[in-house]
Amino acid sequence: MSVRIAVLASGGGSNLQALIDRFQTDAEAPGRIELVVASRPAIGALERAERAGIHTAVLPPEDQGELATLLDRHGIDLIVLAGYLRLVPESVVAGFRGRILNVHPALLPAFGGPGMYGMRVHRAVIESGVRVSGATVHLVDERYDEGPILAQWPVPVFPDDTPERLAARVLRVEHLLLPAAVEAFARGGAAVPLSEPLAFDFAQEVAPSAASVARLASATCKPEP
Ligand code: GRF
Repeated sequence: MSVRIAVLASGGGSNLQALIDRFQTDAEAPGRIELVVASRPAIGALERAERAGIHTAVLPPEDQGELATLLDRHGIDLIVLAGYLRLVPESVVAGFRGRILNVHPALLPAFGGPGMYGMRVHRAVIESGVRVSGATVHLVDERYDEGPILAQWPVPVFPDDTPERLAARVLRVEHLLLPAAVEAFARGGAAVPLSEPLAFDFAQEVAPSAASVARLASATCKPEP
C-alpha cells in the first residue's frame, strides 16, 4: 500500500523537489506526496508543488492549529519536514509519533537545536574548526532536532570553505539522503547490512551515488519499535 506523504516546507523547496523527483513519477515507489504545507506564502516550495500537481496549503504561525485537520483530511501517513522552520504542534507530534522525519544540514546532535538553521549552521561548523560536517535525517519530537537519528552522511569541510560553499555541498547530499531515508522508512525501514564500507569522494566535490546513500539509509533507517 502506498504511503501517503505530507511535506512541510518554509523555503525554496530543493529538498521537496528531490522528494517529488523520487516519488511522484515512479509507480513502484512506496509512497506518494499528497500534500505540501508551507509556513508562509509565495515560497519556491509552493511553486514546485503546484508544478507537480500536488495539493498545497499555506499555514502561517497563527493557523498552526489547522495542521492536524489538514493532515487528517488528506489521510496522511508520514510527514516529512523539508526546510521547515517551525516547531510541529505537540498535538501533531503526539498523533504522528515515530512518523515525522526531518532533514538537518549537520551531523546531529552537533550544530542543532533552536536557532540552528540555514547559514547559521554552516557558519558555526566552519567557526568550530571541525573537518567533517554532513546531513542528518531524524524522527521529530517536541523539541528542535532532538528525535532519534535515522540516517546520516558525512561531508568534508575544506580549509577555504565559506558557509555558502559548505551549504551547497551539504545540500547536494541532503538531496540524496532524504529521499533514500524516506523510501527506506516507507518500505518499513528494512535494516540491510552494508555489503562494503561506504566510500565517497569529495575531491571533486562529487556527492555520493544515490545507490550508496540508499544502502546507508536502509541500513540505518529503522522505524520506532
Ligand atoms: C536545507 O539545508 C535543510 O537542511 C534546512 O533548510 C534547507 C532547506 O532548503 N532545514 P530547501 O528549502 O529544501 O531548498
